[in-house]
Amino acid sequence: MSLRSLHIVLLGLLIAASVQAAAAAQRANSRAVVYRHVSMLAELGRRLFFDPTLSASGKLSCASCHDPAHAYGPPDARPVVPGGTDMRQMGLRAVPSLKYLQATPQFTEHYYDSDDEGDASIDNGPTGGLTWDGRVDRGRDQARLPLLSPLEMANDSPAAVVAQVRKSASASLLRQAFGASIFDDNEKAFDGIVQALEAYEQRYTEFYPYSSKYDDYLARQGKADGAGGARPRALQRSRQGQLRPLPYQRAGSRWHAAAIHRLRPGGSGRAPEHGNSGQRRSVVP
Ligand code: HEC
Repeated sequence: MSLRSLHIVLLGLLIAASVQAAAAAQRANSRAVVYRHVSMLAELGRRLFFDPTLSASGKLSCASCHDPAHAYGPPDARPVVPGGTDMRQMGLRAVPSLKYLQATPQFTEHYYDSDDEGDASIDNGPTGGLTWDGRVDRGRDQARLPLLSPLEMANDSPAAVVAQVRKSASASLLRQAFGASIFDDNEKAFDGIVQALEAYEQRYTEFYPYSSKYDDYLARQGKADGAGGARPRALQRSRQGQLRPLPYQRAGSRWHAAAIHRLRPGGSGRAPEHGNSGQRRSVVP
């Protein structure tokens, strides 16, 4: 190869390397931008979640029913939490906890699960989705329901919610997240509000911290076993008050529970969900 063509080859390699480096820097940059945007949205969502002025009564926030002190579930033993413009309308359903929803699959009538011990060819029936009947898949679509339900936050329209947010301390954050003119379009502003609520519900520190004793036990087992090959089991408390695994062979009602509620990590070490998001349950009405 002549000296000239060697130069050309080297120059080509240099250009390719710098193009790659620029692309990598851009990727890292856009990831940082997305990360910042999501944390801003989540912070906005947190403020909205606790803001009672988002209800027609001015008394009911998302947190009134989904109380962080009670795993984002109902604050007391009443079967339903009253709401509506006069705060006397009784909802039709119990308030669910909002924790660990991140693993809920989208609603499907026929669910085949391979992560489970079971046979992946078995149809588990209707599974997944949010609300007791799985009628919405995304947090942003769900958040529209309580904001506009006459039995809950009872706003007349998306525009009514937007007008409240515009007056509130959250307005500047909404502008920051979606642009200075976001309040010019009610539908866009409402979309931004429900997206922010969704982003807040995805904050793992609040909504899926995996901080129970059992999670701790799994983490320690994984470490002890290197690759995380341990077979964690249902726990029982010993007479000395320590948690220890139940024997696998144990039959009867306790073991039945362990067969339904997954106790072992799923693929790639994912923490187990102690439920299967199945919709085979009774809902009235
Ligand atoms: C008056 C009480 C009440 C208020 C206020 C309320 N919720 Fe709920 N929430 C419920 C009930 C009841 C359900 C179950 C609804 C159903 O099955 O149709 C529910 C369901 C949900 C779900 C689905 C949970 C699951 O397991 O599928 C999410 C997410 C949620 N609410 C978020 C919110 C957000 C965000 C707000 C505020 C914008 C809010 N809720 C305000 C009572 C309330």
